[in-house]
Amino acid sequence: MPVPPLPVDLSGIRLDPQQGLARQLYQALRERILDGRLQSRTRLPASRDLAGLLGISRNTVTRAFDQLYAEGYIEGRIGAGTYVAELSAATRPSAVPAIQAQSPATQSAALQLLQSHHLSPPLSGAPRAFRVGVPAFDLFPFEIWARLSARFWRKPSLARLGYGDPAGDLQLRELIAAYLRNSRGLHCDPAQIVVTSGSQQAISLCAQLLVTPGARVALENPGYRAAGHALAIAGAQLCGVAVDDQGLDTAALERIEDCRLLYLTPSHQYPTGVTLSLERRLQLLEWAQRNDGLIIEDDYDGEYRYSGTPLAPLAALDRQGRVLYVGTFCKIAFPALRLGYLLLPPALAEAFARRRALDMRHSEIGTQAVMAEFIAAGHFQRHIRRMRSAARSRRDALLAGWPQNVPGCAPLPVVEAGLHLCVRVDSLARERQLISAAAQVGVEISALSSYWLPDSSTPEDQRAGLVLGFAAVPEGQIDEALLALRRAWRI
Ligand SMILES: Cc1ncc(COP(=O)(O)O)c(C=O)c1O
Repeated sequence: MPVPPLPVDLSGIRLDPQQGLARQLYQALRERILDGRLQSRTRLPASRDLAGLLGISRNTVTRAFDQLYAEGYIEGRIGAGTYVAELSAATRPSAVPAIQAQSPATQSAALQLLQSHHLSPPLSGAPRAFRVGVPAFDLFPFEIWARLSARFWRKPSLARLGYGDPAGDLQLRELIAAYLRNSRGLHCDPAQIVVTSGSQQAISLCAQLLVTPGARVALENPGYRAAGHALAIAGAQLCGVAVDDQGLDTAALERIEDCRLLYLTPSHQYPTGVTLSLERRLQLLEWAQRNDGLIIEDDYDGEYRYSGTPLAPLAALDRQGRVLYVGTFCKIAFPALRLGYLLLPPALAEAFARRRALDMRHSEIGTQAVMAEFIAAGHFQRHIRRMRSAARSRRDALLAGWPQNVPGCAPLPVVEAGLHLCVRVDSLARERQLISAAAQVGVEISALSSYWLPDSSTPEDQRAGLVLGFAAVPEGQIDEALLALRRAWRI
């Protein structure tokens, strides 16, 4: 039967049957969207027609569309097909230079990975309901920060303006250590702290120093994809471990042979929101000891607990020097601050500082010195209390105003911690419909399906859900967004 002509010109897409077809198609379409050959709002052909044209299965086309959808390149309108999304100027450069073919010898594995994966950065710009990963930074005391900053720069000590300690400013490290001792029960010394550019850099440093190329590294699935990317770039073979209502499934971890490194988010699993039970925490420490392994504990939003007993971090329970604890100021102050830290087992601290020196010598002194003053003068603790209470009120506004009985959507969970919640949806198609209808009325919702590792064995529909950040905007804007959602979802 002749294949009907397509509504848009997709000629020129050539797929190599020896390579992953879905990925090639995804890349070809993404490239056309980015360089403008496929304009915003262009309707894409139905998956059946495109499959016919390219001589591939419809399933393959659906997988490529799902990926583009999860990354925001395309959107669906209920019953009305699939369209190229409205991309911001920042996302769509006026002309994307074609990547010239290079000889394989010049391409490292890391470079190839970076070229073949779309590592979507977090959304930028002014916060909107329900952006994930951002705190109530409209409440940051900028005047105090400006005053402390002016005081530092008016007459900086010259001793602090030369090359500094690669582990970070000593005064700041002492204050971080005291904070971790008091608020998290961590036994620590400033010599174990390395100041980083946010927790992402801390994770990346762990990846650089702990991953042997080809080695297996376990991580939560679904999980924080940027950690997975950092580990993969360092050569890790990623092994996703399921998450249940007690957190990472330790029995599943035990089944992974020859694995000695684990990354996880125990205090508030990203993105499901589960807190890792004490029993599992102890099992993980035993696992590390038995396998001579190490654990990267990412406590990215540990300051935000609203009810229930906070559990001791793995690093506080660790007596063997097997846990590397990652913390950040970006979820209490604001993301663009780019200030975080690692609390390292004593035997590793020196090497991490040296590695950091090779990357960037050390973090910029101004931000470190001002943060040290901010903590020393008591502003930090006060601000944590304020942020926690604001996030709790914003959480309450979302829980109170969320429409009941959204078809295909589970009820909202109890939210005891963190800055976001996660709600399951009964199919990928429904997830897509709900998110794209929300996007049409300016409401940002993240797809749970985009947090899974690509080769997950979990059936596709079971990966679906909505991830909603509730702290980014004040209650009034949350109420408006909820009204808009009701209209968009017709409920
Ligand atoms: C689980 C998790 N870890 C780390 C980070 C990175 O945070 P930072 O801004 O401190 O690099 C994020 C950011 O959203 C996150 O969700």
